[in-house]
Amino acid sequence: MIQRKGIILAGGSGTRLWPITMGVSKQLLPIYDKPMIYYPLSALMLADIREIAIITTSEDQEQFRRLMGDGGQWGLHFTWIVQDRPEGLAQAYLLAEDFLAGAPSVMVLGDNLFFGHGLPELLARATARPSGGTVFGYRVADPQRYGVVDFSAEGTVRGIIEKPVQPPSNYAVTGLYCLDGSAPERAAGIRPSARGELEITHLLESYLAEGLLSVETMGRGYAWLDTGTHESLLDAGNFVRTLQARQGLQMGCPDEIAYLKGWIDRAALRARADLFGKTGYGAYLASLLS
Ligand code: G1P
Repeated sequence: MIQRKGIILAGGSGTRLWPITMGVSKQLLPIYDKPMIYYPLSALMLADIREIAIITTSEDQEQFRRLMGDGGQWGLHFTWIVQDRPEGLAQAYLLAEDFLAGAPSVMVLGDNLFFGHGLPELLARATARPSGGTVFGYRVADPQRYGVVDFSAEGTVRGIIEKPVQPPSNYAVTGLYCLDGSAPERAAGIRPSARGELEITHLLESYLAEGLLSVETMGRGYAWLDTGTHESLLDAGNFVRTLQARQGLQMGCPDEIAYLKGWIDRAALRARADLFGKTGYGAYLASLLS
């Protein structure tokens, strides 16, 4: 079996959050006490993915590398890929074609946060499917902002519509895409949409047209947070703060996941705890050792 690989898409100019993203990449902004990208990275790690391509703009790559290095501190391996112009989410599969080398993948958008009991199992079910694709539908109050699932009366998926003015349902497609090895080839066949982008929804429709797309709903026990507006950015930070303060457990902590999965040993975790010293993050890592 070919090992499934991961992609984190962290490009884009983040114009919707200007002026804060004029000087720094959106996916490096803090979500309470951690950089945003830690959270989608954690989702890939929970899906048992260790070989990960991180796609950023050329200007931002250096900062991401300073933060995350080659992934070795977490028992991961990162490949750094540049996206010069943001030409749609499906473009990621063209940029990552050599990296994927035919492997199936999980792509996560660098500004999406997932939380929920059972998330690892949900991901395991999706990644166990050898062919086709799986995406996740999540009920939201404002589907106009997303790709939206169009269900027939019988509940089968008829289509996925990008940012519909009149949404056919309240189910948004989250930014987590489990696709088989045919994704780059399919992406190459897509033409740019009216807004000039290679739309992820068109890529998904190519699977759907062949009966190869599963849409799983992420139930109300999950949190899917995005950070596309100032309000949702603040909401995500408050969510993390509330939960962490209540439980005394960290959300989106790659060091903890790597340790619990046995990808790094005690000595490596100790080194990381020392590196972060007296910060809350450092104290948390030290507490995992005792
Ligand atoms: C993108 C996708 C959309 C998806 C959303 C999830 O939209 O195009 O289908 O529902 O991510 O975050 P964007 O946030 O880039 O506007």
